[in-house]
Amino acid sequence: MKKIDHGKLPQHIAIIMDGNGRWAEKHAFGRITGHRRGANSVKAVVKACREIGIKYLTLYAFSVENWLRPREEVDALMGLLDKYLRSELDEMLRNGIRLVAIGDIGSLSGPLRNMLEEAMEKTAHNEGMVLNLALSYGGRDEIVAAVKGILKDCQIGKITPQALTKELFSTYLYTADIPDPDLLIRTSGEYRLSNFLLWQSAYTEFYFSDVLWPDFRRRHLIEAIIEFQRRERRFGLTSNQLRRDGTYTG
Ligand code: IPE
Ligand code: IPE
Ligand code: MG
Repeated sequence: MKKIDHGKLPQHIAIIMDGNGRWAEKHAFGRITGHRRGANSVKAVVKACREIGIKYLTLYAFSVENWLRPREEVDALMGLLDKYLRSELDEMLRNGIRLVAIGDIGSLSGPLRNMLEEAMEKTAHNEGMVLNLALSYGGRDEIVAAVKGILKDCQIGKITPQALTKELFSTYLYTADIPDPDLLIRTSGEYRLSNFLLWQSAYTEFYFSDVLWPDFRRRHLIEAIIEFQRRERRFGLTSNQLRRDGTYTG
């Protein structure tokens, strides 16, 4: 079996955890059971990333568009999130995992928001790995919110329009403190971004897996990392340039 090269790990892995509904249908369960089983994959992948030495893991758990799903399904997903935060907080503290959330957190219910804030506060000093949950997240909403923030700061004279660069723009995004993802995995055989990390994935390597999220485990993650390590990230340059100056990282 092939092995991961620990000298060439992706610093940041992002995952679009898709296929819970189809998994449930395949096994003649309701969709909510699919989401419940999906939570087991979350636990397995968080643990594996921590052990492998990944520094940032972003999980797309709920999109802004997902609010339009049937009420019972939305409620069940929120309930699972609450349950996950309660049951995994100790594990995060034990394993040095810092919890962060990106998205329109204000749209979550009060109790859930409190739970999330408490978990973020308690894990804030952990340095082993950042677990970044995308909740009520939309890439276009994030960009619009950034533009609004910039306009406001221009109005009050904190910045000038001339000072705006892509680096400064990035600091207005939800991901201001998080590097761009190196590897983005989407499960369930769908080949789209679904409004995820639009700005941040400009030079991300994409990996698509046919495995449905509730079946996704450590070995599938390892396959994705090995495939990532086989690729040459050129950032617009030529292969020769990269070979001459191996230090270029974009
Ligand atoms: C992903 O699984 C979980 C969320 C979007 C919250 P889906 O629920 O989208 O599963 P499919 O795509 O219907 O199979
Ligand atoms: C993307 O999956 C969102 C999450 C995984 C949270 P969806 O299932 O909502 O995406 P579409 O609708 O198939 O594009
Ligand atoms: Mg889906």
